[in-house]
Amino acid sequence: MTDHLFQKDFISTQDWSVKDLRTAIDLAVQLKAERRSGQVHDHILRAKTLYMLFFEESTRTRNSFETGMTQLGGHSVYLTPAATQIGHGENAQDTGRVLSSYGEGVAIRDCRTDIGQRYLYEMAGHADAPIFSMQDDVDHPCQAMADLMTLVERFGSDLSGRKFVVSWTHAPKYVRPLSVPQSLVMLMPRFGMDVTLAYPEGYHLMPDVMETAKANAEEAGGTFTETHDVDEAFEGADFLYPKSWGPIMVTEEQDEVEAMAAKYTDWRATTERMASAHDDAVYMHCMPVDRGYEADEQVIDGSQSVIYQQAENRLHIQKALMALTMGGDL
Ligand code: CP
Repeated sequence: MTDHLFQKDFISTQDWSVKDLRTAIDLAVQLKAERRSGQVHDHILRAKTLYMLFFEESTRTRNSFETGMTQLGGHSVYLTPAATQIGHGENAQDTGRVLSSYGEGVAIRDCRTDIGQRYLYEMAGHADAPIFSMQDDVDHPCQAMADLMTLVERFGSDLSGRKFVVSWTHAPKYVRPLSVPQSLVMLMPRFGMDVTLAYPEGYHLMPDVMETAKANAEEAGGTFTETHDVDEAFEGADFLYPKSWGPIMVTEEQDEVEAMAAKYTDWRATTERMASAHDDAVYMHCMPVDRGYEADEQVIDGSQSVIYQQAENRLHIQKALMALTMGGDL
């Protein structure tokens, strides 16, 4: 029975039980297989509407949500602050109440530091439809679920005892939010994985998130470890997720960010470091990946890389989450 998930927000995986997260993954795997075999799902959310509000740009998130709604028989509307009265100051309450009186779901990407996730929860408090996070300043739950689905598909549903490494990497281009590493260190311990977080000084995550990750590991019988040694992190790893994020807890000033990052150009996923992991280890990244900086091209395009499966699984997991929460005909 999944009736209890009707109209449930999906802002953080923390708000969902492990059982319900597994239900979503099982459904995503089923929808993916059915679609591959030619089955059409356009009855599931027929004539239903998802509003997608983007405060920042996107390739994967926008197109996977939009395509997902098409495949489920519904419709999606792309919105930005500039294209709505949000740009003139209309607040989360009014925006949420109005949009949810028209459609069956509202999805939001808002990565503004100290604002984004609060905006989503505020809208959720007033909207009469589920609110989905398409990434905020704290969490990127759809990404983390697509990543987990990718591991389940390849290694089975029991991932306990596997070493999952989230490692900071050097990338010069822009200040990426903390939400991807934070979503991973919160979610993966709940599935019994031994999670290692590796980063140089100044790239720490939010204290609340660290406490949650530790508590999740204790509850599930796994471990959550921090290190400042990238080589140590890669050794013996099963799942490697090297990616860049900004020193947001210290500074977001571009000059300071670049000066800090320049000290750690050696923090990258190299073929040598990959060789120190388990033979069947996988290289993961949420994309966009900064080729030549975050990882060697041979790693990104190598046989251990699952980055395109992760990107594809965004579509399938989001279809499952929308079907479960938007009153889908399953
Ligand atoms: N991984 C991810 O969220 O990609 P986009 O920023 O392209 O949506």
